[in-house]
Formats: sequence, C-alpha cells, structure tokens
Amino acid sequence: MEVTSSPDQFKQAMDGARARGELVGLVPTMGDLHEGHALLIRSARDACGFVAVSIFVNPLQFGSRADLDAYPRRLDMDRAMASALGADVLFAPGEAEMYPDGGPQVTVDPGPLGGRLEGASRPSHFRGVLTVVAKLFALAGPCRAYFGEKDAQQLALVRRMVHDLNIPVRVVACPTVRAADGLAVSSRNARLSSRERAAACVLFDSLSTAAALVRRGERRSDLLRAEMARRIGAEPLARLDYVAVVDEERWEEPSVIESPSRALVAARFGETRLIDNLLLPWPGEGSMQNSDVSSRSGR
Ligand code: PAF
Repeated sequence: MEVTSSPDQFKQAMDGARARGELVGLVPTMGDLHEGHALLIRSARDACGFVAVSIFVNPLQFGSRADLDAYPRRLDMDRAMASALGADVLFAPGEAEMYPDGGPQVTVDPGPLGGRLEGASRPSHFRGVLTVVAKLFALAGPCRAYFGEKDAQQLALVRRMVHDLNIPVRVVACPTVRAADGLAVSSRNARLSSRERAAACVLFDSLSTAAALVRRGERRSDLLRAEMARRIGAEPLARLDYVAVVDEERWEEPSVIESPSRALVAARFGETRLIDNLLLPWPGEGSMQNSDVSSRSGR
C-alpha cells in the first residue's frame, strides 16, 4: 500500500489507476479506524480495482480547537488496518497540505438541511464536512465514494452536494455496524465509562421501538417521537438532544409518514454525544438494510 501525505501524489495515484482502466473507490475517514470503516473499505475492495483510504482530521468540521485536539490520532494502527484490508493507497495529509493558505475562503454551503438536526447542535459542522469532501472528490476524480449510514445526515448532504454540483462521484452507502446489544460502532464509544456504555444501547432500543410501532401500522410522527423520547428519558445516564423522523427522500419532518422514513436520535452520556438512526420498515420495500434487529451487521 502506498502511503502519501501529498495531495498531488494522491491525485496521480487515482488518475493512474483510472488510466489503467480500473474502477476507483475512495473511503474518506478521519482515522481512528474501526469495524464501521472496515466495512466501507471491504465494500470498496469488493467493487473496485483500486481502493484509496483518506485520513484527515478536518479542523473545519470541529466546534472547538479543544475537540479537534482531543480527536484520537493513531496513524500507525490505521495504516496497518487499511493495508490489511487491501487498500492500495492511504492519503493522510496534514492541515498545511489540505489548507495551505490556513483555511479556505470559499466553502460549501450545506443549504437548509445543514442547519437542522445535527447542524442545529453543531453549527458550521456540515459546511466543514462538505468543504473537505468536495476537496477530496476534486483530488480523487471520478470514483465511487463509500460513506456509512451511521452518519445519515452527512450521507444525505454528500449525496445532495454531488447531485446539485454535478460532481462525477457515485456515493455508496454502507450499513451501520452494531455491537451485539445494538450500539452503533463509533470512535466515540471508547470515551464512555462502562456504565455509560451499558446505558447507550437505549439509543438503538428507542429506534427499534419506533420501527416496531411502524410495523404495526403507526404513522403519526409525534407519537413515534414521543415513544423514542420516553425510552431515552427513562435511562438516567442519557441526556436527550433530539429525536426526529424524516422522510428518506427529502429529509422533511412530516406529521404523518407517507413514504420510507428514517428515525434519528442524539443524546449525551456524560461528556460523550452519540447519534444513531434507523430506516423504518415500509410496506413493499422488502428487507431494507439496517431496518431492524435481525439485519444488524457486525454481530
Ligand atoms: O465521517 C467522517 O469521518 C468525516 O466527516 C469525513 C466524511 C471523512 C469528512 O471529514
């Protein structure tokens, strides 16, 4: 596996693979790789002749310098994991390489969805995410790019950006990897105490409750939201941030769901803020990935 911190070398590697006729896959990450990332890399490996993994802890998407500094950096372990999973190139630039002028003057406006839900709790987060993803896509060129459903709003916004700005990238979504008790795998889980870790499975429980209600015919969003909030509220270690139900197509929040929809939750456990989401079952949609307990990955 080639390892480079140079944007030019990364671009050359991608261009070279395409020139050899290979389908190119890109897995953008911020490092601290875990099973969720492994699924993205494996999916890229299965579909593409050439696979790139990027690791860049993007300052633009952090709310504070303290958060940015606290983000785990373990390049040696990440390099070993990416290589073992069959990546062809690891692009791991530093801040000065990605933002040589100390930060871009032109950034990507994430539009109205960028200010809601996660965007309401983390102002400027999605502007930072889309700006760095646009830069990575510009360097990578036409390719498939792999993102996890765990960050469903990020995925929706990346798709929107690719569509609205005619970026020649096919976005591929991979299902959330979950622990046996349903907790979504995330770098943040390592920050939980053992009591918080045990409590955090309430997020998936609340999403599963919403899925069970929809399966039984419930369509009223306020009732679904109330039930999710009640379950999270019953967990003494959880502090609810939001629960929401959005339609999968437009990410609007209808009062009655009338098409495939997604339930979303965010809550704090001590100092650690976790998010999760679940595609709700919908008649005629068959077995939708990630929609219920029986379809968990990583069990
Ligand atoms: O999901 C992430 O790890 C980051 O938000 C991403 C997409 C790599 C952009 O920095």
